[in-house]
Amino acid sequence: MRNVLEVNNLCKTYITNKRQNNVLKNVNFKVEQGEMVAIMGPSGSGKSTLLYTVSGMDKATAGEVVFDGRNIASLKSSELASIRLDEMGFIFQQMYMLKNLSVLDNIVLPACQSKKNMLSKKEKVEYGMSLMRKLGIIEIADNDINEVSGGQLQRACICRSMINKPQMIFADEPTGALNRTSSDEVMEELRKINADGTTIMLVTHDVKVAAKCTRVMYIVDGNIKGEYNFDRYKSENELRQRERSLNNWLMEMGW
Ligand SMILES: Nc1ncnc2c1ncn2[C@@H]1O[C@H](COP(=O)(O)OP(=O)(O)O)[C@@H](O)[C@H]1O
Ligand SMILES: [Mg+2]
Repeated sequence: MRNVLEVNNLCKTYITNKRQNNVLKNVNFKVEQGEMVAIMGPSGSGKSTLLYTVSGMDKATAGEVVFDGRNIASLKSSELASIRLDEMGFIFQQMYMLKNLSVLDNIVLPACQSKKNMLSKKEKVEYGMSLMRKLGIIEIADNDINEVSGGQLQRACICRSMINKPQMIFADEPTGALNRTSSDEVMEELRKINADGTTIMLVTHDVKVAAKCTRVMYIVDGNIKGEYNFDRYKSENELRQRERSLNNWLMEMGW
């Protein structure tokens, strides 16, 4: 399989009050098309920084990030912006949506900004609605964003992240603000999207979430301490066993 993402000797240093904080220290990994990778690790270990640096939201201090065959540091800012808009989807723990637009308008907005798919406005709206139907939230299409539940809003954020048919979705604790039931539902939607071919990389503290992925990377102090590979998740029956084996491995990692 083709690598969607290649990260070579990635370093990220923040300087605050003249003090250097080396957050990522020579990180190396590849993500193949179709993978679903979970990043786990203690608070402050650099998980969010890693996600933001490899997705071009933040600049690397040293090293190389190659997305879809292109070294993102060599791109003009307009080229990087269109790759981020067209080929990457983003989901966060805090569900950012514009307050003066309906849920559907929020979902369709990135398609209106994109030149990737030469669809009419009407076709973009239709596609947004088909995503909402797929994720079981079509009934909130015309709602204001503060008239919906957290679980519904996060599913709407997934629709928005999918609207330009990106190659890869980056999600930072996408279920972190949700209760167990909503978290399971949101994770199930992400898993289906992944099974349909979209590569996903997500940060999570939740073993139940990570156990549905194809790989778990454990980060400590800005380094990948270990990786755990799974077969592709097929049914609910395997979940307990996957959680158990992941828990055992995480204990070895010092979780
Ligand atoms: N924008 C920033 N400016 C300065 N320091 C930052 C910034 N973002 C994160 N850090 C620091 O980088 C370290 C790792 O943070 P983060 O990547 O958010 O960890 P995690 O997501 O694993 O909890 C922390 O010490 C944090 O204070
Ligand atoms: Mg974080």
